[in-house]
Amino acid sequence: MSAWKGRDVINILDFSRDDLDELYTCANYMERTGLGSHYRPLEGKIIGLAFFEPSTRTRMSFEAAAKRLGAKTAGFTSELGTSVEKGESLADTIRMLDAYVDLIVIRHKYEGAALYAGEIAEVPVINGGDGKQHHPTQAMIDLYTIHRLKGGVDGLQVGVLGDLRYGRAANSFILGLSIYMPKTIYLISPPQLRAREETRLILDYKGIHYVETTSLEEVLDSLDVLYVTRIQKERFPDPGEYEKVKGTYRVTRRLLEARAKPDLIVMHPLPRVGEISYDVDNTKYQAYFIQARMGVPVRMALLKLVLQGECP
Ligand code: CP
Repeated sequence: MSAWKGRDVINILDFSRDDLDELYTCANYMERTGLGSHYRPLEGKIIGLAFFEPSTRTRMSFEAAAKRLGAKTAGFTSELGTSVEKGESLADTIRMLDAYVDLIVIRHKYEGAALYAGEIAEVPVINGGDGKQHHPTQAMIDLYTIHRLKGGVDGLQVGVLGDLRYGRAANSFILGLSIYMPKTIYLISPPQLRAREETRLILDYKGIHYVETTSLEEVLDSLDVLYVTRIQKERFPDPGEYEKVKGTYRVTRRLLEARAKPDLIVMHPLPRVGEISYDVDNTKYQAYFIQARMGVPVRMALLKLVLQGECP
């Protein structure tokens, strides 16, 4: 029986390299065979999608993953229209979902909301993003994409560009890299958006070599992977601080052709709002749409392993 069975998925660091290997073997199986119409191992199950914050990829790829495995979904895409509007607590909302579904995927604006939901619910809880803190399933997709396109993470030079302070996808990606042995992680950001201290302390503790810089141009020619992120406007406590940093970096085709290694891959959890110009989309560097497509097989593998503990 797999170590995944019945587990909550809250923080990428709760998972070992062996756990991720098992997930990726399963995701690869899903990619090769599971996307067809006759595979229905989760028939009779209902996946709860409790999205208190907006989402395109996370919600829809979980929904697609559930349906491709034969499960049904129930849930909401905003707290508008739920009884939260009447003052119902998060705890009571989770108790209701726990009574109605077999697994809960939750996205919430507050850090710790998924962990809290996991403590209340009997059914497994998957964190689809909690405030600026964690987005573990995005990191699983990101690491799987690197495995597929680069053969693994060990020995790579990886740049993470953008909002490393408020970005949960960036935070989980950096933590996810630390499960492996990259050669160097370049943390590239304006000074106001540098990676949080707790993240840097984890890299220090795990002996991961990293370099902090404000200049993409200075390090671009060293990189095997460039992971770009959006500045998280909605998480700034002060809108004036957002105005100071918005638009401070932009990856363009011209820049990549001038400085990047020929086999660099450019990733982004999406959505993008100007930090990668559209002229990168049709270059050999573009990996962000491939990464987005990996969302379905990786989330199929997650649902299968957490609910049934085996794959296929
Ligand atoms: N990458 C990601 O979490 O996208 P969504 O916000 O659209 O789910």
